[in-house]
Order: sequence, then structure tokens, then C-alpha cells
Amino acid sequence: MSVTVRVPAKVNVQLAVGAARPDGFHDLANVFLAVGLYDEVTVTPADELRITCEGPDAHQVPLDRTNLAARAALVLADRYGLDPAVHLHIAKDIPVAGGMAGGSADGAGALLACDALWGTHASREELLDICAELGSDVPFSLVGGAALGTGRGEKLRTLDVGGTFHWVFAMADRGLSTPAVFREFDRLGEGTDIPEPVASEPLLDALAKGDPDALAAAVSNDLQPAALSLFPQLADTLAAGRAAGAMTGLVSGSGPTTAFLARDAESAEKVAAGLRASGTCRDVRRTSGPAPGATVIG
Ligand code: C5P
Repeated sequence: MSVTVRVPAKVNVQLAVGAARPDGFHDLANVFLAVGLYDEVTVTPADELRITCEGPDAHQVPLDRTNLAARAALVLADRYGLDPAVHLHIAKDIPVAGGMAGGSADGAGALLACDALWGTHASREELLDICAELGSDVPFSLVGGAALGTGRGEKLRTLDVGGTFHWVFAMADRGLSTPAVFREFDRLGEGTDIPEPVASEPLLDALAKGDPDALAAAVSNDLQPAALSLFPQLADTLAAGRAAGAMTGLVSGSGPTTAFLARDAESAEKVAAGLRASGTCRDVRRTSGPAPGATVIG
């Protein structure tokens, strides 16, 4: 008996970041869009908790209890007084340390898979509560679609999306640490007045209407200067994607994956080809959003 859950990656179409709070986190206005790159988490009863991972980036994935998939199993087992003796296998397609919530996806996936395997039938509310405990982006990985995250990103309001948006993602040859990017954001902002993060109404309208031109004009990422400061070569990738016909390009979340919006599937293929030929990235993937959240598939 085993359970497999499929979980999407995300891109932040808006990431407004406030000043550091006393707890070190930052208040956000974080507009998440789930996109069709997926990890699959399979959970099987075992003698003890263990994790394996397959995929091109598998060697970069921690296989100990710091992995969010393991932490999800431990938290759920603890709440229900169960033994967390399971084998968690992650088939990883989302880039590691890429700014696309791959680790969060595995946390949400393992949680849903263990809930189904153990028959704990936790309510949606309880699952979301555990997700928020695991990390700021984990609730969104469970929910998928599009949502506005406030607080540290974990308080979600589902958003309407009136169409399909076509994206091209350029993967970098190394990862960036999210805490390091937030620290760089703090450093770059030292001595300046950092406004309260607010969701952009034109951006929410563009999503609701499914209008790529309006979305391209409205996307923003306050972490982009920090990611570029730590990883200056990303500027070349952004320029290459725009030169290849992308409507806009931005760093995805804390990076270093860069995200390019294309008008349609055909144009996305051209952008992808241009990026591949540019030699400014390790890999290029074409997909669309919104995508559904964590789903039991077997
Ligand atoms: O919540 P999560 O564990 O994913 O956050 C990872 C790190 O990113 C935090 O330790 C913090 O440094 C930074 N972060 C932040 N403000 C947020 C979310 C994350 O400063 N809203």
C-alpha cells in the first residue's frame, strides 16, 4: 500500500516585501501562481522514517529530518500519536533552491500523502495550519491555483484567474539560499524607508481577466535586486529572455530561477529556444499556470 501526491511549483507574480520584523521574518504581499512543474511524493509504510529522491537535482536534496517532507510526516504523526515509520520517495522535477517552492511542495505533498496513508482525515484547516508551521510557502503548495499571501506569506486568499498564462523558466547552475536573499534585501535597504507591502490592484485585475499584457506590465519582485546582487549573471539571463521575445522577465521568488511571460504557447517555444541558445542558463522549461494544488494521484 502506498500513496502518491503530485504538487506544483510556483512563481510569484508580485512579491512586495516590508521591513524585517522583530522575529526576523518580513511581512509580504505575495501573489502566488502555481505552474505546471511538479514534484511527486510517494509514501509507503517502512521500518523507520527514511527519504529517497530521484531527479536531475536529487544530489542537492537533504535526505535527513531537515527535509520538509520528513518534517511534515513527523508533525502529523506527533499530532495524532502515530509512529512516523514511512518511506518518503520524492520524484523531483522542481529546481532545488530555485525560488519555485520545491522544498515547500515536498512538505505539502508528504503531509497530504501521510494523511491519506494513515487515514488521519485531518481537516483542510488543520492541514493548512501544519503547512504554515512547516514554512511560509507551504500552505500555497497545498492550495495551488493563485492566491495572495500576507503575513509572512502563509495567510492565503484565493484569487480568480480568468485564463491560462504561458511561462518559460530558466534554471541557473547553482541555487540561492532564501534567508541569504532576505538578508541581502535588508542590507540593500539599510537607512531607507521601506513601505508596507500591498497587493497591486492592476495585477489582481490582470490575473482575474487572464490578460497577459496587463500582467506583464504589473509583475514585480522586491527581492530581485537582492538576488541580482548575490548572483549578477542573472541579469544576462533576463536580457536573453527579453531579447528572445518574452513579454517580461523576472526573478522567481528569491531566485535564482528566472521566469518569462509569453503571449501564447508558440511564442513561449521561441523564448525557450532563444534562452537555450543564449548559454546563460543550465536548463529551460516551458509550462503554464494556474496549476492545481497538491493532489493524490495514486
Ligand atoms: O518560512 P520559511 O522557512 O520558508 O522561510 C525561510 C527563510 O526566509 C526565513 O528563515 C527567513 O530568513 C526568510 N523569510 C523572511 N520573511 C518571510 C518568509 C521567509 O524573512 N516572509
